[in-house]
Amino acid sequence: MPTALIVLAAGQGTRMNSDLPKVLHPIAGAPMLVHAMRASSILEPDRIVVIAGHGADKVSKAALAYDDNVQVVIQEEQLGTAHAVAQAREALAGFDGDVIVLYGDTPFISPETLAALVEARASHDVIILGFEATDPARYGRLVMEGCDLQRIVEFKDASDAERAITFCNSGVLAADSKTLFDLIDAVGNDNAAGEYYLTDVPAIARDRGLKATAISCDESETLGVNSRAELAAAEAAFQAKTRTEALANGVTMTAPETVFFAYDTYVGRDAVIEPNVVFGPEVTVESGATLRAFSHLEGCHVSRGAVVGPYARLRPGAELAEDVRIGNFVEVKNATIDEGAKVNHLSYVGDASIGEDTNVGAGTITCNYDGVFKHRTEIGARAFIGSNTMLVAPVKVGDEAMTATGTVVTKNVPDGALAVARARHENKPGLARRMFERLRDLKARQQEKK
Ligand code: UD1
Ligand code: CA
Repeated sequence: MPTALIVLAAGQGTRMNSDLPKVLHPIAGAPMLVHAMRASSILEPDRIVVIAGHGADKVSKAALAYDDNVQVVIQEEQLGTAHAVAQAREALAGFDGDVIVLYGDTPFISPETLAALVEARASHDVIILGFEATDPARYGRLVMEGCDLQRIVEFKDASDAERAITFCNSGVLAADSKTLFDLIDAVGNDNAAGEYYLTDVPAIARDRGLKATAISCDESETLGVNSRAELAAAEAAFQAKTRTEALANGVTMTAPETVFFAYDTYVGRDAVIEPNVVFGPEVTVESGATLRAFSHLEGCHVSRGAVVGPYARLRPGAELAEDVRIGNFVEVKNATIDEGAKVNHLSYVGDASIGEDTNVGAGTITCNYDGVFKHRTEIGARAFIGSNTMLVAPVKVGDEAMTATGTVVTKNVPDGALAVARARHENKPGLARRMFERLRDLKARQQEKK
């Protein structure tokens, strides 16, 4: 059965107190909206419609960055969740299959739960995803009769007896496309909020002799984010879950509570992560690599046996081959470092390639930027770059070449050559002592005057 997704993301999110639309606030490096869409990829949706409103330009950009086949529809006025779903009607014209409605501010619904939701369609026309809430707070309440869902009542409209119900609405709904849009047509706005509630759909379905039910998932999946405090709680929940998974997958962490993962971090078995390591998006770390304390990684690949840090920064495009060493206070960006090469201390390697078993001395800098353009530095295999070498790109250093300490490399260095480009050392006998005497005299005369 073909599947379409409608992701509701038009709301302002007033309680976030932010210029950024709520659904774009990141959790583990990805906008909430993207979390919602990623989970649904298990359903291989044929169509994805994102309903944008507040900050529509930004929301649209983020949705298209995730998948350029996403259709973004603008809901000019936010008149409620049913009104929002109704905006997708034209975008889904001609679509015949199941529609899943997701909320952009509910990022943690698992792929397994979404699969179960679609499966439940075999026996019922409308499926709602519910959860047992420890604190039902302001969630909509699911009024069940056996396994049939009678109706959903919003907190604002609920009686005391209904507020006592703990089985709550996550917001996720599944129904056949034609049925859903027919039911939406019948939703009114005669309620406490004066909004068109999507949550009226199950009751209307029942009135028409259709069958509605609710399936249940773990509360942690349905965490909705409406404030910064809830955003922080969502981040903490994501990190806790990811740390547990990493440990179960055979990653060693001495202080897992200090390690922060991104939504897509991959770490292989028997890798070691020391305390206070932070991952940005798009990092892969192979088995047996070691990430030492206080390192920050994003957009990079660390191969088997490599050791990074402590205090290293790997930026996008850093590609470390097996057994590479990147030491303290070293920054690597857009650079490939071949097997066994070492950059151990206080260096910047950007827009560069370093050949295998090359040793880069302390304080080496690839001067890759001239203020307008970026240029590449290419260093061959088994080379030795002396401490405090400035490599003024574009420049190449050959295999088995050397640069003398303090060299400013402005010309290519052939294979096997030694480059020395620094002022020649000269000693002036006795001059230091004479200068000290003159300066101390001067100071004494100045103090007499005072
Ligand atoms: C909604 C549900 C509630 C459920 C809760 C779960 C309704 C009426 N209520 O309440 O039963 O327990 O979610 O978190 O559906 N949106 C639009 N356009 C609109 C209105 C909302 O796109 O006109 C989007 C929002 O951006 C948000 C989502 O829909 O992503 C949910 O809206 P929100 O106002 O947060 O609903 P809740 O009051 O949380
Ligand atoms: Ca909400």
